[in-house]
Amino acid sequence: MDNVGTQSQDGTPHPGTRFGTGHKHPDPRGAGHVVENHGMKTGGYELASPGETITPPELSTPFMDPVPRETSSGRADPAHSARVSFKISPPYGRRRGRVVAVANQKGGVGKSTTAVNLAAYLTLAGGHILVVDLDPQGNASTGLGINSRDIDRSIYEVLHGELAAKDALHPSVLPGLDVLPSTVDLAGAEIELVSAFSREIRLRRALESLNELYDLILVDCPPSLGLLTVNALSAADELLIPIQCEYYALEGLGQLLHNIELVRANLNPRLNVGGVALTMYDARTRLAEQVVAEIRKHFGELVYRTIVPRSVRLSEAPGYGQPIALYDPMSRGGIAYRDLAQEVAARTGLLAGNEGV
Ligand SMILES: Nc1ncnc2c1ncn2[C@@H]1O[C@H](COP(=O)(O)OP(=O)(O)O)[C@@H](O)[C@H]1O
Ligand SMILES: [Mg+2]
Repeated sequence: MDNVGTQSQDGTPHPGTRFGTGHKHPDPRGAGHVVENHGMKTGGYELASPGETITPPELSTPFMDPVPRETSSGRADPAHSARVSFKISPPYGRRRGRVVAVANQKGGVGKSTTAVNLAAYLTLAGGHILVVDLDPQGNASTGLGINSRDIDRSIYEVLHGELAAKDALHPSVLPGLDVLPSTVDLAGAEIELVSAFSREIRLRRALESLNELYDLILVDCPPSLGLLTVNALSAADELLIPIQCEYYALEGLGQLLHNIELVRANLNPRLNVGGVALTMYDARTRLAEQVVAEIRKHFGELVYRTIVPRSVRLSEAPGYGQPIALYDPMSRGGIAYRDLAQEVAARTGLLAGNEGV
């Protein structure tokens, strides 16, 4: 908890922020997708009514056209613009909401950026995805178009047992991608929950009721190993560790792995490290190459093949409340997160035609 607040980004919306555009979004995830509105607050835009089927215009050669297509509303179809050519298909057709905690107690290594952008691409691939923002700084919430001023029901009330998780769900800038947002109040939860009953498994309990609504639940952890991160580890099926391709990249990871052991032994025997994502790679330095080699040596097959480069576009996108898939999908950072999302889908058994991998 002592590390909370060390991040450089303060989550303040950029002056040009476009929150709550009042558009009725076409569903970007393909023809015939049934939009389910789980009785959520609709922020600044309308969702389709429950059960309504939205059929985007016919695509003669899906995902192959170099020119971004326009939907009937005149907006480019995001899945098409982002060239998302893989599909999410829940194993055996059933959602089970596997929970992936994005954790690393270091600040500024790309946790929130990874959670936001993986979630967006998995959604564009047809998934129903939830991002749980467990960081009081709320970077994942802002990055997905949720204005902190609009949040009156957050993960804070859920952890305190005052609100059911489903009542704190907010729709994001992308239909099909929901957020359980955080506010600065959450910083107090680390201390307030210390003496609370079942304090380490509050999040797990809360998410149990949401499992069947989502294909994947990504939990964006704060930069500490305090009670909030312990809650994430207790709720998670697996951990995704973003590692910045910089000097001292592996420093502190021993402590994280030790905590994982403790949680596995005492709270959550099924917890595993599911993957390591390499972030902020700067191809101009020899150092980055050496760091990648060292991380691969250390974690072996756990390291995803896709390396996310350092890209200004990735750092600009949150200021507009947009994931890179909407802001600039063809930027190098966009392409990298799309490819990483496909790898994550394959490894978590969500890739259509690839069940059980
Ligand atoms: N690949 C990248 N290239 C450039 N900037 C990045 C990249 N990934 C993240 N950033 C920026 O670096 C800062 C820290 O990233 P963030 O995802 O918030 O880290 P964390 O959640 O681990 O603290 C943010 O300002 C973010 O926009
Ligand atoms: Mg963060």
